Amino acid sequence: MATERGLELVDKDEDGVDRAFRADVLEGLRQAHKAVPARWLYDDAGSQLFEDITQIPEYYPTRAETEILEARGKAFAKAIGPGRAVVEFGSGSSVKTPLLLRAIDPAAYVPLDIAGDFLRAAAADLAQKFPGLPVHPVEADFMRKVDLPPEVAQMPKLGFFPGSTIGNMVPRTAVDLLRTMRATLGEGSMLLIGMDLVKDHEVLVAAYDDAGGVTAEFNLNLARRINRELGGTIPVDELRHDARWNDDFARIEMHLEAQRDIAFEVAGERFEMAAGETIHTENSHKFGRRSSNTLLLAGGWTPVKRWLDCEKRFSLILAEATIPRTAP
Ligand code: AVI
Repeated sequence: MATERGLELVDKDEDGVDRAFRADVLEGLRQAHKAVPARWLYDDAGSQLFEDITQIPEYYPTRAETEILEARGKAFAKAIGPGRAVVEFGSGSSVKTPLLLRAIDPAAYVPLDIAGDFLRAAAADLAQKFPGLPVHPVEADFMRKVDLPPEVAQMPKLGFFPGSTIGNMVPRTAVDLLRTMRATLGEGSMLLIGMDLVKDHEVLVAAYDDAGGVTAEFNLNLARRINRELGGTIPVDELRHDARWNDDFARIEMHLEAQRDIAFEVAGERFEMAAGETIHTENSHKFGRRSSNTLLLAGGWTPVKRWLDCEKRFSLILAEATIPRTAP
């Protein structure tokens, strides 16, 4: 049976179980180091919890990025120029977008998102705020090359990818995505991308392990989702949210750590975890100037400008599609 998640067809079995979710969870739990892909954190409850996270005092990225967007409008206008079609990757509820659109006088706005409901609501909201601006929402998985609407075919493009979502990908996936974005946007395009910065490890860990326990709930919700949707018996109360800094990979990792030896079933398969063993649920890479530049260059983008917030916690980087060169 197939139902829709955005335009993505969700392949469900006769019991209504999302086959891709079950396959990812079972494969991940069979590994020596248990891990479940982070994308499964975002069911309805998880998406709401993430929205809550953006409001908590310790989680600075959303506020820091908004500060840059509010403060640097003139600089964006100068570096980007008017008349571009702004293509937002994973637009979601597009909260930050008006700040950019107001600054740069674009020719059109193309929000791309896999979640159709969010997309339509956000596009309608934007169209109301910017009455003269053509808005062309596209329901699509931006991890693959997207055919943009013919109305914007002749316009120069600006890709917009805020939030440091690129940091949730391992470098290899991030490079693939940057190359796909370049293919979607075409020659002469620019990209404005948010990247969170390496900083004091205590600040980072607090941002992912807040005192109010919202991020813990976000992480534990994945175990609850597995129980709910895959007939799991994971003893959620025996798991502890753990956010740790991995210095080798410059990233915060989220794990679910067993507090004692436990055994459980998922989709009829038995698993065991010894006390202290974890399920790895998310990476959030943090960047320095060199690592962000290297990542962008590997993805086919030449960095041209970089803006930071007052406290130097977060960066917004403007890059342009690299012209292939044959000489070094
Ligand atoms: C969506 N993403 C950029 C968030 C981040 O900061 O890595 C997800 C998140 N996970 C825990 N808190 C926030």
